[in-house]
Amino acid sequence: MLPMPPASAATVSPARRLRGRIRVPGDKSISHRYALLAAAAAGQSRLSNYAPGADCQSTLSCLQALGTEIRHQAGVITIQGRGLDAWRSPAGPLDAGNSGTAMRMLMGLLSGRPFTATLVGDESLSGRPMRRVIEPLTRMGGRIDSVDGHAPITVNGAPLHAIAYEPAIPSAQVKSAILLAGLQASGTTSVTEPAQTRDHTERAFAAFGISVGLTGLTVSVEGGQRAEARDLAVPGDFSSAAFWMVAAAALPGSRVVLDEVGLNPTRIGLVDVLRRYGARVEIEETASVAGEPVGTITVEADHARSVEISPAEVPVLIDELPAIAALAANGGEVSVRGAGELRVKESDRIAALVAGFRALGIDADERPDGFVVRGSAAPAGGVADARGDHRMAMAFAIAALAAERPSRVEGADSVAISYPGFFETLASLVAPA
Ligand code: S3P
Repeated sequence: MLPMPPASAATVSPARRLRGRIRVPGDKSISHRYALLAAAAAGQSRLSNYAPGADCQSTLSCLQALGTEIRHQAGVITIQGRGLDAWRSPAGPLDAGNSGTAMRMLMGLLSGRPFTATLVGDESLSGRPMRRVIEPLTRMGGRIDSVDGHAPITVNGAPLHAIAYEPAIPSAQVKSAILLAGLQASGTTSVTEPAQTRDHTERAFAAFGISVGLTGLTVSVEGGQRAEARDLAVPGDFSSAAFWMVAAAALPGSRVVLDEVGLNPTRIGLVDVLRRYGARVEIEETASVAGEPVGTITVEADHARSVEISPAEVPVLIDELPAIAALAANGGEVSVRGAGELRVKESDRIAALVAGFRALGIDADERPDGFVVRGSAAPAGGVADARGDHRMAMAFAIAALAAERPSRVEGADSVAISYPGFFETLASLVAPA
């Protein structure tokens, strides 16, 4: 018997297989963008299936502090936009909580507003690099103070001018911050990425009536355009679906069907990985909602082979790497290179992942820019610390299903960042032995 877990821990019992048909919560990346653009538009927008996690609530409370009226009613968020010009200097610091996306995208929008605002975050967010956004925004004329490149960040709004920027790292948050600033700049702002990252901002701009230019890896936006209010439905979050996809692929006899999941091609690199691993994955695109493809994903376990993730595919599965590591919990090897960015996510995900997997009895090693997990027979199980990182908590829970005895995930309450109800859904999918 394990001792009684603290309130923030979850006990995960071994499971033979997962079976069921579910929907996952609304997409976190898309929800942030829709909320920001709705608050920048003049008019009322209604967003359904808005991500219920704490991160997207942080964005809403920042927008409220900037003077936007927001109501939650029967699962729909109503945002009464009055245009960016109506944004007001907040009475106190804007709290982005744990969310890098909220902080970086708000930096972009605030850098062109004629007032000063300070952005703060929790301990994790305060340790994450912000220079990657400060630098291009400063080149655009923004005046931003930080603590050695970290939050608290004070944005002193200023008139902006367009730049053509080539970020050194592929980052959708950096790209988005620049494009949001570009909406307020004189001239046409462009970003040329070193590799394609998620393009939700580009699609959301188009959905909110803003024209964007797309040529290869270059995205451009002309300043002075205004967003138009919209009623939109947010697709299910592929990154949340990823945990069930991996569990279904790894546990023989599993079959999980996920409805109304976002299938944006810049997000779904995991599908190919699971097929290489030996799972049967069926994708049925059923709709396109505001330019985002949506559909049903069915995953069935079949074979278990080793998989290698190459640096080139990392940008289209960056958030799924913790889940992918869990594929190896009951056999095969997962090896990842070119993913150094994992070290500056909500935790150092390379260090946290390897420590947690070892604690569960799974052989794992760090690489400077990735990791290798070597599965064998069922791991013993144990106590893994999520280090306050939602995706670590969910990856450990999925890996622990393959163990010989119950395991404990410390810091399991962090799942509320992106997937409140994760453990309840897990219980509902665990089929009787
Ligand atoms: C996100 C972009 C990615 C991703 C994060 C969400 C976004 O971060 O890891 O969870 O919504 O734009 P980077 O832009 O830092 O790669």
